[in-house]
Amino acid sequence: MRPLSVRVFGKASQKIIGDFPIKDPNEILMFFLMRNGLPIASSCAGDGVCKRCAVNGEILSCQTRVGDWTAENEQVEIDYL
Ligand code: FES
Repeated sequence: MRPLSVRVFGKASQKIIGDFPIKDPNEILMFFLMRNGLPIASSCAGDGVCKRCAVNGEILSCQTRVGDWTAENEQVEIDYL
């Protein structure tokens, strides 16, 4: 069974930022995070070019769907939070 929320962990603070409910598993992860008030960097508006939206190291959140993410990852880790 897939999780009903996405856990976000801040690597800078070493804290869980929150658990955010999934409304649409097809939503793009970057837009999901932004919609939940998290400051996700982007200068290409999700075209997959700038790489500023990376989470968990080098994963481009603008190229990832929420449902696919939760199927394979426990949490989103953001370096600067
Ligand atoms: S927003 Fe530019 S690569 Fe993701």
